[in-house]
This record gives sequence, C-alpha cells and structure tokens, in this order.
Amino acid sequence: MINIAILGFGTIGSGVAEVVEKNQAEIQKILGGETLHVKYILDIRDIPGAVKDIETIINDPDIKVVCETMGGKEPAYTYTHLALERGISVCSSNKELVDAHGVELSAIARSHHCSYLFEASVGGGIPLIRTIREACGHEKISKIAGILNGTCNYILTNMKDGKDFDSALKEAQEKGYAERNPAADVEGHDTARKIAILASLISGKKISYEQVDCEGITNVTAEDFVNADAYGMSIKLLGVYDAGADTVLVAPHLVPKDNALYNVNGVFNGVMLKGNMVNDLLFYGRGAGKLPTASAVVSDVIECIKNIGKNIDNGFADLEPGTINRAPEKNPEQKFRTLSW
Ligand SMILES: NC(=O)c1ccc[n+]([C@@H]2O[C@H](COP(=O)([O-])OP(=O)(O)OC[C@H]3O[C@@H](n4cnc5c(N)ncnc54)[C@H](OP(=O)(O)O)[C@@H]3O)[C@@H](O)[C@H]2O)c1
Repeated sequence: MINIAILGFGTIGSGVAEVVEKNQAEIQKILGGETLHVKYILDIRDIPGAVKDIETIINDPDIKVVCETMGGKEPAYTYTHLALERGISVCSSNKELVDAHGVELSAIARSHHCSYLFEASVGGGIPLIRTIREACGHEKISKIAGILNGTCNYILTNMKDGKDFDSALKEAQEKGYAERNPAADVEGHDTARKIAILASLISGKKISYEQVDCEGITNVTAEDFVNADAYGMSIKLLGVYDAGADTVLVAPHLVPKDNALYNVNGVFNGVMLKGNMVNDLLFYGRGAGKLPTASAVVSDVIECIKNIGKNIDNGFADLEPGTINRAPEKNPEQKFRTLSW
C-alpha cells in the first residue's frame, strides 16, 4: 500500500480522494499491484479525521507524495518547501504558486531526489504539461494558442448567443463556474498565469504572469459577436505564446470559423500547438472542475510513485528569469486582434 496526503480538502482535494477511491483498480494496475491510500487530509476547516499541522504528515516516513490543492501562496509555499526538503514529492494544482515559486521549488525537489509536478495547474484535466514535456520534448514548438479559462469561455459563448456581458457573468456565477469575485478570470490574469507557465516550459526561460500583455473580456459586447459573425469569426479569450516574436499575450481574439478553437465552447478549454515536426496539435477538454482537475493531480501522483527516490525533470528547475518582447500594437481600426495560425 502506498500512502499519500492531501493538503487542502476543497473542490480539487476532495476530488483527488474520490478519484483514488473510484479508480483504485485502474491505479493498482498501473502501480504494479500496489494500492493507493489517502492517509492524511490537512485542512483549516474541522473535517472529521483531518489533521491541521503539516509536521504530522512530513514526519511520517510512510508518506512519499503529497497533493497540494490548497491554492494561494501561503501556507502552500511553506508546506511544499517542507515536504520537498524531506524528500516527499509534491503534486500541485496551484498555478499561482507554480508561477511565483515553481522554479525554486523544482530545484529543491531535484536536490532532495523527489519531484514537484503541476499538471493540474494548466488546462485542468487536459494532459498538456506532460505532453509538452515528454511527447513533444524533442519538438521545436513555435506557437501555442489556448482557451485556458472556462469561465471566460462560458461567458463569451453565451454572449455569442445574444446575452450581454453582465447577464452572461451572472449565469456563470449561478452555475458555479465563476467566483463571486470574478476579476482574476474576466480580466485575463488566470489565463496569463497559465500561458506564462506553458511559455516558460517551451522557451526554457522563466516568464512570470506579470510580464504577459494582458487584456480581459470586460469590453467585449454582444454586438461585437454580431459584427464578428458577419466576417465568419467568433471572439475567444486566448493566451498566445509566439516563439519567433518572443511574445506572450492574453487578449480577446477574432477566431476564424476554419480554426479548431472556433468550436471550443462553454466551459471547455482548447489549446493548439505548432511543432516543427508534428505540425498542429489540438487539445480539448475540461480545463477545470473537481474530477477532471483531480484526475490530473492523480496522474502526477502515479508518476511520482513510479519514480520514488528519483527526481522527475519537470523542465522548471533550471529556468532563469527571462525577458520577452512586448506584443505588437493591434491595428487601431480594429477592436480585436485576429488569431493568425
Ligand atoms: N476548482 C477548479 O476547478 C480548479 C481547477 C484547476 C486548478 N485549481 C486550483 O486548485 C487549487 C485549489 O482550488 P479549489 O477550487 O479546490 O479551492 P477550494 O475549494 O477553496 O479548496 C482549498 C481548500 O484548502 C483549504 N485551505 C485554505 N487555506 C488553508 C490552510 N491555511 N490550511 C489548511 N487548509 C487550507 C480551504 O479551506 P477554506 O475553504 O476554509 O478556505 C479549502 O478546503 C487552487 O490553486 C486552484 O487555482 C482549481
């Protein structure tokens, strides 16, 4: 039996426990017959059986992997740091922490022969980071463009059907897709964090979300969709990394009907990637939500367990802070940029 701990038993943390329980047979098969067991849950709330101190977890020699699904910088940073220093691998869904401290934490993992993985931090359940790191590790990736925020995509999809921004946002909040304070989503910062992580992995230099040219969707109107439709286009919030221009940008884009991202609707995410050998790849799936995101965390847990005592190179440990170019100004006669692919 292999024991793990979950730090933060909210939406994603409780999802990890559910994935482990429901897919135990599949997990056992992939782990060569070993079962996976959630030995500890740490949460600030009073949850039956949960612990409140990290020491109990990191002092238990049975624990080889923890899932950090708390979110935010602190205490997630401190707890991750403490675990990695003890040689305990950490699997995180926390894009904020990966953006702010991912390089440092990855280096700590490497020097302590364990791993820091964060598949769930970008694209929820879509296996994007591992694919870029492994299956596409030998590719020269020239461009990536992604619908990386399901809340914004849900709002924009409803606006395409005639709703105004405020009522589309209200509906997203009622359905639990948008936070009560939706600023991080609708102003594009969540997308910026995610595209910055992908751009860092691909470019080999650390790009922080603060460096990303970022425009959200609050200025998009239902009328813009009518105008876009007249030209066979839709409007999508995209995070775009262009390796040739060395730019990283988040902005609403006109997307032509013949581009695959045109049909990525509702809460779904879609990411296109161009490699010099494989050419175009398209990833599509649920970029958020309890079980899809938890599934990505569990995939990291399994990879860590298969590599106990070793460091998995996550592509982050050696990154130096890098500069990028400012995105070119958009045509002043046009309200939106057009996706060029
Ligand atoms: N939800 C998604 O669809 C999704 C998708 C991809 C990535 N993520 C990322 O996954 C992370 C978790 O998201 P979530 O939606 O699961 O959040 P959540 O539901 O708020 O869960 C976080 C849990 O951690 C607990 N917590 C917070 N501070 C703590 C502390 N100091 N000590 C112990 N427990 C603490 C919270 O308790 P309280 O409720 O009392 O604060 C809550 O139970 C975030 O980084 C998020 O960006 C989420």
